[in-house]
Amino acid sequence: MDLVIQTGLGQTRVELLDLLHRDSLVPAEQAEQRRADVAGPIERALDADVRRSARRRSRSPPTGQGCRRTRVEVDAHSARQNTGMTEATTATDPTTFRAQFPVLERLSYLNAGTEGPIPRAAAEAVRERIAVEADGGRCGRPYFEGLMELAARARAGYATALGCDPSEVALTGSTTDGVNTVIAGLDLRPGEEIVTSDQEHPGLLAPLGRARRRHRVKIRVVPFAEIAGEVSTATRLVACSHVSWVGGEVADVAALASTGVPVLLDAAQALGAVPLAVRALGCDFYAGSGQKWLCGPEGSGALYVREERLEELLVPWPGYGSVADPANALEFEQADGVKRFDHGFPAGMRSAWAAASLGVFEEAGWDWVYERAASLAAALAERLAERGLSVSPRGRSTLVSWAAEDADAEVARLAGEGVIVRSIPAFGLVRASVGAWTSEEEIERLVGLAAR
Ligand SMILES: Cc1ncc(COP(=O)(O)O)c(C=O)c1O
Repeated sequence: MDLVIQTGLGQTRVELLDLLHRDSLVPAEQAEQRRADVAGPIERALDADVRRSARRRSRSPPTGQGCRRTRVEVDAHSARQNTGMTEATTATDPTTFRAQFPVLERLSYLNAGTEGPIPRAAAEAVRERIAVEADGGRCGRPYFEGLMELAARARAGYATALGCDPSEVALTGSTTDGVNTVIAGLDLRPGEEIVTSDQEHPGLLAPLGRARRRHRVKIRVVPFAEIAGEVSTATRLVACSHVSWVGGEVADVAALASTGVPVLLDAAQALGAVPLAVRALGCDFYAGSGQKWLCGPEGSGALYVREERLEELLVPWPGYGSVADPANALEFEQADGVKRFDHGFPAGMRSAWAAASLGVFEEAGWDWVYERAASLAAALAERLAERGLSVSPRGRSTLVSWAAEDADAEVARLAGEGVIVRSIPAFGLVRASVGAWTSEEEIERLVGLAAR
């Protein structure tokens, strides 16, 4: 039982509910008994927590300009009483954090799996940046050095989210860009095989389809949970999602890495959503989006390449920044490090926005962000299931999907109530993306609306 109490009693409750829900290995009657034993005290604790957080909210400023990390002594104390934990817990105030996302004043925005909500600080950074460019002109050495400095800040922010060094990160325009960089960069040979899963997004499948046509490699599609066992001596690459976009299942990356075959992870639903130390994770290539869980601009993303694999890739889309000596670009000596895979010129507005959004999470604390989002998502899944909805299998992630007769109509109905979710049409699912910015009240309201 990996109980981690980060922010107080509300968290304790959702963690415990999550454990109950996840524990499908116990026989049904035992699980029911455990539910009965634990659920009562949890619900009572929740009531107390809701009252406490309402009191806290009434003390909080109406809009947070920044998100200071505050000590939540009362909750930490209660959490210790419930779990035997002995250390005090430092936490970010959820209300203050949430207040940094203007869209949340109007909407229950539960669609970061498509595009994240934009923090106020990022909107301001873009406004400032366009003023600099429009008023000052786009010329001169200081201007270009300024662009490089901004790009370096964005890269450093991505590296923090990835849990690696900035030298291991390329700036891309999307998850798809990162995936293409790897698949087009490998020296694939006819007859080699790439193993992927039955839950992949077109952002991974299209590059695989191209590889099949161009290099005559074989693409083998297997169930998401069975990928590692399907790797054979013919397998050149495993390419799959870290977190499935369908329902939030999490790949067993340790099992994939233990096959010894290079592993490319599509991190569109993982980067910024689940705790990450990418080197320790064991994959070789990790391609993520900037516009989703990192709340950056469209056309942003990051690619991690494990150092040992760097020379196996040839830059597939080279330019000025990817060669060691641009004055001798025809020699095509590749630049040092993963930076050589950067996509295009680092636009100032893109970097300023990305860096500002990443800064919001860093200030709140990534651990807090991950824990709150995953715990709320687990609570949503639990509550929907309790109300009789068929929730898709999921891991400890930030996505929650449930079956609907007409998923598109359901998404439209919820949008009419100010709740923004999406459908996964091929699977007949409605999917909610839960972030650290989501409130407990939004979760309850969505449950009520979905289970009408
Ligand atoms: C699993 C997965 N992969 C790839 C993508 C595409 O992301 P991007 O637009 O950043 O390439 C998405 C977008 O929803 C996704 O969910």
